Amino acid sequence: MNTLVHDGSSEKLPFHAGELAIQQQAGTLAEAAWLGQRMIRDHMPEQHRLFFHQLPFLMVGSVDDSGQPWASMMVGAPGFIHSPDAQTVRINAQPLPGDKLAENMRDGARLGMLGIELPTRRRNRLNATVEHIDDDGFTARVEQSFGNCPQYIQTREPQLVKLSGPVQVHEYAVLTPADRALIESADTMFIASNAAASADTANASAAGADISHRGGQSGFIRVEDGRTLLLPDFAGNRLYQTLGNLHLDPRAGLLFIDFDTGDYLQVSCTASLVWDGPQVAAFAGAQRLLRLKVVGVRRLANSLPLRWSARSYWPQIESTGTWQQADRAIGLERKANEWRAYRISGTRDESASIRTFFLDAVDGLAVPSYTPGQFLPIRLPAAAGGLQRIYTLSAAPDGQRLQISVKRQGAASSWLHEQSTGAVIEAKSPGGAFTFDRSRNRSAVMLSAGAGITPMIAMLDGLLPNDGSQVHQLPIYFVHGARNAQEQAFAEELANKRASHRNLFVHLVHSQDGDAWSEAVQARPYRGRVSIDLLKKILPFDDYDFYLCGPQGFMQELYDGLRGLNVRDARIHFEDFGGDSPMRRMADTDAPAAKVELVDLASASPAAVKFHVSSKEITWQPEDGTLLELAEANGMTPLSGCRSGNCGTCASRVLSGRSGYVSPPGAQCAPEHILTCISIPLPSAAGEPLVLDL
Ligand code: FES
Repeated sequence: MNTLVHDGSSEKLPFHAGELAIQQQAGTLAEAAWLGQRMIRDHMPEQHRLFFHQLPFLMVGSVDDSGQPWASMMVGAPGFIHSPDAQTVRINAQPLPGDKLAENMRDGARLGMLGIELPTRRRNRLNATVEHIDDDGFTARVEQSFGNCPQYIQTREPQLVKLSGPVQVHEYAVLTPADRALIESADTMFIASNAAASADTANASAAGADISHRGGQSGFIRVEDGRTLLLPDFAGNRLYQTLGNLHLDPRAGLLFIDFDTGDYLQVSCTASLVWDGPQVAAFAGAQRLLRLKVVGVRRLANSLPLRWSARSYWPQIESTGTWQQADRAIGLERKANEWRAYRISGTRDESASIRTFFLDAVDGLAVPSYTPGQFLPIRLPAAAGGLQRIYTLSAAPDGQRLQISVKRQGAASSWLHEQSTGAVIEAKSPGGAFTFDRSRNRSAVMLSAGAGITPMIAMLDGLLPNDGSQVHQLPIYFVHGARNAQEQAFAEELANKRASHRNLFVHLVHSQDGDAWSEAVQARPYRGRVSIDLLKKILPFDDYDFYLCGPQGFMQELYDGLRGLNVRDARIHFEDFGGDSPMRRMADTDAPAAKVELVDLASASPAAVKFHVSSKEITWQPEDGTLLELAEANGMTPLSGCRSGNCGTCASRVLSGRSGYVSPPGAQCAPEHILTCISIPLPSAAGEPLVLDL
């Protein structure tokens, strides 16, 4: 629970130290401050008061005498929750028979409340202090009130039923097989947490319990053993109220509902966060994982007087994974360097020359995850010359299939454009360093021309999903140049996103007139080219990160122009697949010295290199050039793009040994990887070779 309510002062934030710590680690500190001051109120707005009034049940988070949080449900005919004024909520119901909530309900108790309307996926949160308890229920003073989005909620219609016979309460320490089955098939969970008064909170008297919803596909929670649960933490409101509480006090109370039988499973546990690692990377939609060690279980039968209609999943649920899919992806990750077959399962024309290809994995296994903005290395069949190319993925990952958008402009792209559904190509795992930097929390300007629109569309898809949620809250200016309306790709996609995201500003620029223009995306495209002069006209004064993708002359001109306006080099990101010459950068004068080891190619000493996958061992000499050139000269066909250290395409994992860069890298690559196009081997003291995963 938050400990400070926004009172109009810009200095006070509605977060306690635990929430701030998690926001800082997640890189959302500035966003959360902006959001929190607008979202969190010290009263219930009229809309929330009416919303709670119509609910047949209420989720409640409470804390027992030992400080253990409990997640509970209270049930009544609609109208049992009543708000006589904006500061007060009245609940005319009693805790369910056998529920710990009855013991935790006392004058002065700080409760977390979640109103959730499953048929419509609406939900609102409320934190309140109990002021009066009587035979009919209790009255509480509203401390905080805020809305939550409908993400991850499965719809079900609840129905009140009359129960007969006594409630059965079973308490034990280890999950039973029936508990495990319920949890492993669950698509919905509620979690209560607590920021105790004695914990590190700015206002201890205001500390208390919270309760929140977690949802996913059936199979999104793993029971690792009888005592440990593991579940993904998907993108949410970026305020991290639950995780912030757990940062201060790791005790949590879970509630699972058996929607078939009405059984009610309360699980006490201690939580820890897993911030990264292969399981986080492999679980579609996961930003981190929550590991919960079970310390106690209570199963209530014949207590909950509700039964439920069949489930209907949240429409975007397939953008999230299951543990079964994640396990497959981890297995596939180990095969990232291998070509896999993909079948073209559909196509869509985005413009007169750009076509999108939807790719399904032929082996039926999960498709690899990736970060929007990355590219897919592909290889055409031998009958098409076995050509290798890299094409940008043009949508955020959905865990189901891959999507590339290809401009017809050469042998490989022409072959692709001539294929119909069913054709098979090969692809390796996605790569590339041109991705949106979410740690910066700044307004962004995306500048593209021609086919350079594809990574921007993928990033936009990740930042502003079509479900109406917003991963990025700050303004995004999308500026794109095309020849005319016929060559304008993704116009409909941009129109849809613009209609549902008020922080997206689209500016299209056409160098020629065209017909059949849709005014849904922009009344009239600008006439001309994307230029610094145009940016000066359309961009309000702000602190931006710039993303560039398009023909090299286009990017160099804009890069030089932005640097001329004193935009720092570190603020300008670009996708450079190489051209006649690599992009020229001007380093920031105050940039820290590069941490990479720079070496002089001409004076380097011979060194042994081993290519692990190809089983080749070679003694490198300075005249062999870079490791990329050495591999190619020895019959290998590693992927490459810019060949100047700017795109990340040639990155290879170093299994052992030493290497150095002959020029500063412009692209970043994963830990233990190097850009082979600007790397050479260095001799080791023990004479061990440099071993590359190639
Ligand atoms: S090929 Fe672009 S970084 Fe090496």
